Amino acid sequence: MRRFLRGALGSAGGGCVLRWLGVKVCRRSVLVVVLVWLVSWLFLNSLVFVHRNMFSDFCTDDKSKQILQRVCNDYHQGVLTGDLCEDLCVSGQVEYKRCLYYENGKKVMAANWRGVPVVLKSKLENFSSYEALALLDYQDAAGGAGGEEELSPLDVIFYATLEIKNSLGLETGTNLTLPRLWGQRLKEKERTYSRAELASLWALLQQEEYTFLRVLQDLTHHVAKILGSCGHFYAVEFLAAGHAWDQHIFSLEELSLNPSPSPWSRRERRLTARDMVPRVALSFLEMVEHFENDFAHRLHLCDIKPENFAIRKDLTVVAIDVDMAFFEPKMRDILEQNCSSDNDCNFFDCVSKCDKIKNRCGSNRKNSNLQVICEKIFRSWFSPTLLGEKAGFPLQVELQRAVQECGEMDSGEDTGRRRAVRQQLRGLLMELILEDAGSQEVQERKRHVHTALNF
Ligand SMILES: Nc1ncnc2c1ncn2[C@@H]1O[C@H](COP(=O)(O)OP(=O)(O)O)[C@@H](O)[C@H]1O
Ligand SMILES: *[C@@H]1O[C@H](CO)[C@@H](O)[C@H](O)[C@H]1NC(C)=O
Ligand SMILES: *[C@@H]1O[C@H](CO)[C@@H](O)[C@H](O)[C@H]1NC(C)=O
Ligand SMILES: *[C@@H]1O[C@H](CO)[C@@H](O)[C@H](O)[C@H]1NC(C)=O
Repeated sequence: MRRFLRGALGSAGGGCVLRWLGVKVCRRSVLVVVLVWLVSWLFLNSLVFVHRNMFSDFCTDDKSKQILQRVCNDYHQGVLTGDLCEDLCVSGQVEYKRCLYYENGKKVMAANWRGVPVVLKSKLENFSSYEALALLDYQDAAGGAGGEEELSPLDVIFYATLEIKNSLGLETGTNLTLPRLWGQRLKEKERTYSRAELASLWALLQQEEYTFLRVLQDLTHHVAKILGSCGHFYAVEFLAAGHAWDQHIFSLEELSLNPSPSPWSRRERRLTARDMVPRVALSFLEMVEHFENDFAHRLHLCDIKPENFAIRKDLTVVAIDVDMAFFEPKMRDILEQNCSSDNDCNFFDCVSKCDKIKNRCGSNRKNSNLQVICEKIFRSWFSPTLLGEKAGFPLQVELQRAVQECGEMDSGEDTGRRRAVRQQLRGLLMELILEDAGSQEVQERKRHVHTALNF
């Protein structure tokens, strides 16, 4: 027994030496395994943590439907209203399609409204999250005291205008006419406004994007059309947005929410894919000129990238993200900062020069919308790699040069030269469109002949 034990111990002890070596080896690999496991565990956990925090707002159909349901509950309770509510909440004429984007509370979803593809948007998901109209409380108090004081349409216009000017950063005293349609609607109905109507209007006006679009609706077709609203949600036309991962082109196929391949749509795609780029580019030029000259104040786009633009079926370019679009007065405010070098005077795509004596950035923007568009969008569109075999064509070479020149234009350049660059670019694009149309026709005719022969 003892011997056996000793033997066992001995063997165990002997094994220990051996095993000790083994264990050492083993320990190292165990250590490695444990470390790897720990690191990946930490990594996965932090990933989950980050994911939960950043994407807590993850876009799901369930959530979107719940949000719309809450809008409708509020509508039925008379808290909010709008021209879209009846269709959304009663007759079921607004068909939810899919969720597009949630971030920082902002909700964007796609839907069909009476067969028209629309995008429903709101900066915050709940109506109650918007600031209430203090005027309504005042009215309540007045009502409680017995005297029913009513809000006149003029008051509404006054407050709405104030809010718009505030959020667009236009100084008071400038002539900002209220959107025509809006003013008319308020004036023609000599009636007072219901609580729900005022509260809804107020919630909409607190969304800078809405105010912005609303103000520009009648002035330009280069912003998304607002089609209707219900409470804090407003519907804009559905557009084909550019993609960060596909710099080159906007996909028109996206424009139909239920892709149904038909010979007609395939034909249309074939026709557009070829000469879309110069046409869209031309619309970009048109938009730039519009934003620069046709409003009371120049409009600056400070975040220029494909995702922030979209196109309609007719290939007009639309600015969809207007969070970084500023009228001249606000632009000046933003640019005027303390600085020690020019680098301190960059506000995204809007830059000015540092005055080294005053240590203050100039309030004049140094670059222009067109310059940034040439640099960040056109350059890749007309780059030799993208054009492929076409890149060597004289027209294409000229175009590349014009785009290059446009992207490098400095504010020091005199206006005459700027206009010349712009004109040249436009001319070349038009030529390109004509050329493409011509070759298309030839091909079309060839195909016709072909089928005729086959018959
Ligand atoms: N009118 C629209 N048509 C189609 N897609 C849209 C439209 N408006 C927005 N989107 C999509 O939703 C995304 C986010 O919308 P956007 O208003 O630009 O939000 P943000 O201002 O937070 O960037 C866009 O990148 C685009 O893909
Ligand atoms: C919106 O309201 C719902 C229900 O009232 C609530 O559960 C949710 O947390 C609210 N969301 C926000 C962002 O306030
Ligand atoms: C506002 O417009 C009127 C006429 O439309 C003009 O006389 C007036 O000078 C303008 N005011 C400002 C501050 O631009
Ligand atoms: C900018 O500089 C001025 C003096 O040159 C100073 O009074 C001011 O506080 C500075 N502002 C900021 C935001 O640093």
